[in-house]
This record gives sequence, C-alpha cells and structure tokens, in this order.
Amino acid sequence: MGQYPRRVVQRFPGPELRASIRRIPTSIRQRRQWYKDDVEVVRTARVSRNAVLGRRVRINGFGAHIDPCTIGPYTLVGRVVIRAANHHTEFLNLQELTQQHVIGGRSVLKPPSAPVTIGAGCWIADNVVILEGVTIGNGVIVGAGAVVTKSIPDYAIAIGTPAKVVKYRYPEEVIELIKDIDWWNWSDAKLRANVELFNVDLSTVDPAELKELLGRLH
Ligand SMILES: CC(C)(COP(=O)(O)OP(=O)(O)OC[C@H]1O[C@@H](n2cnc3c(N)ncnc32)[C@H](O)[C@@H]1OP(=O)(O)O)[C@@H](O)C(=O)NCCC(=O)NCCS
Repeated sequence: MGQYPRRVVQRFPGPELRASIRRIPTSIRQRRQWYKDDVEVVRTARVSRNAVLGRRVRINGFGAHIDPCTIGPYTLVGRVVIRAANHHTEFLNLQELTQQHVIGGRSVLKPPSAPVTIGAGCWIADNVVILEGVTIGNGVIVGAGAVVTKSIPDYAIAIGTPAKVVKYRYPEEVIELIKDIDWWNWSDAKLRANVELFNVDLSTVDPAELKELLGRLH
C-alpha cells in the first residue's frame, strides 16, 4: 500500500459513490424493453442503462462494455468496448475519484461529446474499441481488433488501428439500390415473405435483376 493512507483506501470510493456505481447496471425496465424487442445481451456484458438497443440487437461478446450509445436493429456486437468517458490529459493526476475524494481538486473528466451511434444491420467484431463521437452507418462491418476513431459510411468494411475503410460490402450501384429499403423495420411476416431478397449474393448480383426483385417486394 506504500504511502497511501489505509483509511482512505477503506472509505474509497465512499458509500454514496458505491451506491451510484451499483445503479449503473441495467434496470428492470431496460430488461423488459429488451425482452419486448427480442434483444440478446450475453450475461457478462456490461451495458449502460442509457444505451438504446434496437430490435434484435445481439451482444454476444463476453465482457463487452457499452456506455450510453445507440445501436441500430439487427446489429451484431462482439466483445466490444464503447466508452463515453475521456480524461483530461493535462493535469498531474488522471483518476477522477482520487482527484475529487482524496485530493479535492478539479474534475479531470472531460464533459461527454456526441455519443456513439451505430446503425442497423452492422457487425462489430471482437475486441473493437469505439471512441466517443463516432457514427457508424448502416450495414457496416468493423473487423476484429479495430479502434474506431472516425465515422464510417454505410456498408463499408473497416479494419485496423485507427480503423480505415478497406472496401465496401457491395458495388456502389447495389448500395444505391438497397440504401432506402430499411429492411430492419419490416415485420417478421414481411421479412419471411421476402426471403428471396435475403438469399441474394449482393456482392455479385446483376443490378438490373436486383432492381426487378426490389420492384416486386411484398
Ligand atoms: C473484417 C473481416 C470480416 C474481413 O473478412 P474478409 O473480407 O473475408 O477479409 P479477408 O479474410 O479476405 O482478409 C483481407 C485482408 O485483410 C486482412 N484482415 C482481415 N481481417 C482483419 C482484421 N480484423 N484486422 C486487420 N486486418 C485484417 C487480412 O489479413 C487480409 O490481408 P491481405 O490481403 O494482406 O492478405 C474479418 O477478417 C474479421 O475481422 N472478422 C471478425 C471475426 C470475429 O471477431 N468474430 C466474432 C463474432 S461476433
């Protein structure tokens, strides 16, 4: 323990703060909403009560940590870290709790900027870190291990640190055709009635054939 006074360690972070930390995990209301929306969150994932998860979002990565953010319907999320907090880098001490409860100094937390927004039908793979303020479009794939520092457009595949778009999932013409169908808002009956669309390889499809298929959606 060195020079750190024992009584401070024992009181740290203090009963009020401990209570507020306990309040962070998901509420019963949130779990009810997830149940209604058929959302699946693996047991060990820590999801903020202020995170908004769309219908059928799947968070299947053990130990995922998700601060307040918005995740669109049908998005698949692995062991991802989305943190809304950033610390000031210019002061001597970086820990907020020590700064406030031991030293009595100014806050070293930066006020949150824009929250993270992830679109619908995305796949955010394992060990991805998404930094605050980032917007990820619809249908995006973020490859394993990426650190996303900037926004990513619809249907892109981004990998690496910092994450860069390496390609798009489909040709431009196909993206243009599908960009407004918003299939993630369809009813289950409509999804099933249009199964044909979900069996098309959109990376090689003839755009004229796709157009014709989209013209006869049920
Ligand atoms: C992003 C991903 C989907 C790309 O798949 P793909 O399009 O089939 O890409 P390929 O395997 O053909 O790889 C293409 C190139 O990108 C590289 N690459 C692939 N994924 C990468 C990643 N996550 N980070 C860095 N480079 C990657 C490959 O090494 C290859 O490089 P090369 O051309 O120099 O040989 C996939 O690699 C990935 O990251 N999957 C996530 C797996 C996972 O986390 N699953 C958990 C389930 S939720």
